Amino acid sequence: MTDFIHRFEPARDAGSPPLLLLHGTGGDENDLLGLGRMISPGSALLSPRGRVLEHGMPRFFRRLAEGVFDEDDVRQRALELGEFIAEAQKRYGIAAPVAVGFSNGANIAAALLLLKPDILSGAVLLRAMVPLSDPPKAELGGKHVLLLSGQADPIVPASNSARLAALLSEAGAHVDHKVLPAGHQLSQADVTLARNWIGGIN
Ligand code: MLT
Repeated sequence: MTDFIHRFEPARDAGSPPLLLLHGTGGDENDLLGLGRMISPGSALLSPRGRVLEHGMPRFFRRLAEGVFDEDDVRQRALELGEFIAEAQKRYGIAAPVAVGFSNGANIAAALLLLKPDILSGAVLLRAMVPLSDPPKAELGGKHVLLLSGQADPIVPASNSARLAALLSEAGAHVDHKVLPAGHQLSQADVTLARNWIGGIN
């Protein structure tokens, strides 16, 4: 199995979609389990730890500076994560998951949507930005994406998250983009909106 340290928690309700939890820089496989349970209590949770280390902090791909990505690495790591997800689906008997990613985890989820559209059934992207300057033409065929941005996010400019929303819509996704009165950190509104959104697509 493509070697990602991870946590898996089985579903408590077979009708709830499995969630793929993708942490932010410096997080790990434990970070988002609580968030996952809050937004979809019945879901199976698959939560890998990013394999790149930046000064000891786990991430899902390399960056050259804050907001400046090593795009070859983004591509390679997204494919590697895609392989892990496909293998985990077989091993744990789960359907294609809905990604729930925060920050760096949201960025790799966005890359995965663009590079491997079949791997995810949808995504909640929390404080995401455009992961690739020249992405391939993806076919997202009506997949649902919730993009929650922070109005005062010092890392993600408003123009960048708007561009990501447009990119995903042009690829055929149903994108619900909301800009919250928040910074880069998550707020209670993120949890409430994500919970309602997952309930609605389910
Ligand atoms: C990234 O590197 O993915 C973004 O800058 C978000 C972050 O991890 O701070």
